[in-house]
Amino acid sequence: MSLRIFVPRDAGAVAVGADEIASRLEQTAARRGVTTEIVRTGSRGLYWLEPMVEVATANGRVAFGPVGERDVESLFEAMLDNTPHPRRLGITDEIPWLKKQTRLTFKRCGIIDPRSLEDYLAHDGYRGLERALTQSADGILAEVAASGLRGRGGAGFPTGIKWKTVAQTRADRKYVVCNADEGDSGTFADRMIMEGDPFVVIEGMTIAGVAVGATKGYIYIRSEYPHAVEAMNAAIAAARRSGHLGSRIGGSEHSFDLEVRVGAGAYVCGEETSLLESLEGRRGIVRAKPPLPAHKGLFGRPTVINNVLSFAAIPFILAGGAKAYAEFGTGRSRGTMPIQLAGNVRYGGLFETAFGITLGELVDQVGGGTLSRRPVRAVQVGGPLGAYFPRALFDTPFDYEAFAARDGLIGHGGIVVFDDTVDMSRQARFAMEFCAIESCGKCTPCRIGSTRGAETIDKIRAGERVSENIALVEDLCNTMKFGSLCALGGFTPYPVISAIKHFREDFGPTPGRLQAAE
Ligand SMILES: Cc1cc2nc3c(=O)[nH]c(=O)nc-3n(C[C@H](O)[C@H](O)[C@H](O)COP(=O)(O)O)c2cc1C
Ligand code: SF4
Repeated sequence: MSLRIFVPRDAGAVAVGADEIASRLEQTAARRGVTTEIVRTGSRGLYWLEPMVEVATANGRVAFGPVGERDVESLFEAMLDNTPHPRRLGITDEIPWLKKQTRLTFKRCGIIDPRSLEDYLAHDGYRGLERALTQSADGILAEVAASGLRGRGGAGFPTGIKWKTVAQTRADRKYVVCNADEGDSGTFADRMIMEGDPFVVIEGMTIAGVAVGATKGYIYIRSEYPHAVEAMNAAIAAARRSGHLGSRIGGSEHSFDLEVRVGAGAYVCGEETSLLESLEGRRGIVRAKPPLPAHKGLFGRPTVINNVLSFAAIPFILAGGAKAYAEFGTGRSRGTMPIQLAGNVRYGGLFETAFGITLGELVDQVGGGTLSRRPVRAVQVGGPLGAYFPRALFDTPFDYEAFAARDGLIGHGGIVVFDDTVDMSRQARFAMEFCAIESCGKCTPCRIGSTRGAETIDKIRAGERVSENIALVEDLCNTMKFGSLCALGGFTPYPVISAIKHFREDFGPTPGRLQAAE
């Protein structure tokens, strides 16, 4: 009898004891003399069940979770004898939360060993690059455009158009840059895929290099992600050894190589031009556009800069064809979105699904409501610059246009849930304060406006000339929205205005109510 056990090495699982579980399992196997292979995988994304341990059986993998150190002995017994256990969740693929998903980008995450190129290849890895290498650059660009893929970093810009612009710009050298700064509150999909399936990011970037004629790429990872840095560096080294990176990749005439760069912890360094400044060794300050990075980006050369998830979607598109990807979704939002449920939510984690599911379905059914078991009052979608949605807007379909029509954005797909104890005037103040702290300082509406905004919201919260000061905040938001150089100052008004609009009662008495009281 031998066992094959899977324990995640994902930072989220490690934070709740996955490393200790793995070593306990090893000790138990040695003591009992049972031949056991422990494979360290990524996470499946069901974070409330981490550490989630799986064992290979004739019927597929069986999951157990959340596993504590004290469970290990009995768990090992149950795995050996295939007997019931209180932590047993059943066949992993049959767990409803996983089964309801459409995993195109995350299909291997939590399944393969992220340190093993062989495992990646055995699970359809590098099929996309293989097919790309049989096509012309124009053929690859047409495929990406036809897939309808839009940037998953926040702005939702069509990836095919961006790549075509770089491909058509003449230069002696071009670059591909992966934005792994992932600063949005409640988001972790970039981290998860870099830790759980790093080769898919490398493959996507390599295809971009082939399509636009770039020979060098950089992955800019935030310093708070040491596990992702380690996983990406290990995968880059393995890809180089196998000839998937370096000169004449896959026996073709194309060369492409990658390097990891670690950021120093500024939200604004996720903004693409600021990121390029930082990559070049300078302070992260936003550059005025034009020129676009596609024309004049890193070191003044044409540069494709995309989010981790945008690159990670590419291998599926090239391997399966644009149609297979575009088949999913709704309207101009094609394919799937890896949605991240966080905050005060019962079932927090990564849920990849086709665009079109409603916000209410995501929060109530998928997320299971709040962890505190109190009513959901608000959700913030799209990071710190995203709008707050009340229950009344829970029928909004998760797609770029539907959210924009309701003065919101889906951004990087993060949903942060709040219960009825939240004070929305405090959240509005927080948005202004966040902007003031993170502002790069280049333009006045953001640098000064955010500080004045926080001060004025303080006055409102203190009950000082409430209506007058609310009008002042609204006016200030208008200036920030239309006068800021980048979306940090330009989008901070979204959480502020949505909080005032949908939760006015948290900002003090309205004039009408005052009169009624008198
Ligand atoms: C303040 C600010 C922070 C941003 N942070 C990120 C980030 O952490 N990750 C990211 O991919 N995009 C971020 N963006 C968006 C990028 O500027 C850019 O649109 C994106 O990297 C392009 O890739 P995509 O087309 O694949 O989305 C940020 C934008 C702003 C204004
Ligand atoms: S909006 Fe803020 S972060 Fe953006 S350029 Fe202006 S000062 Fe810098």
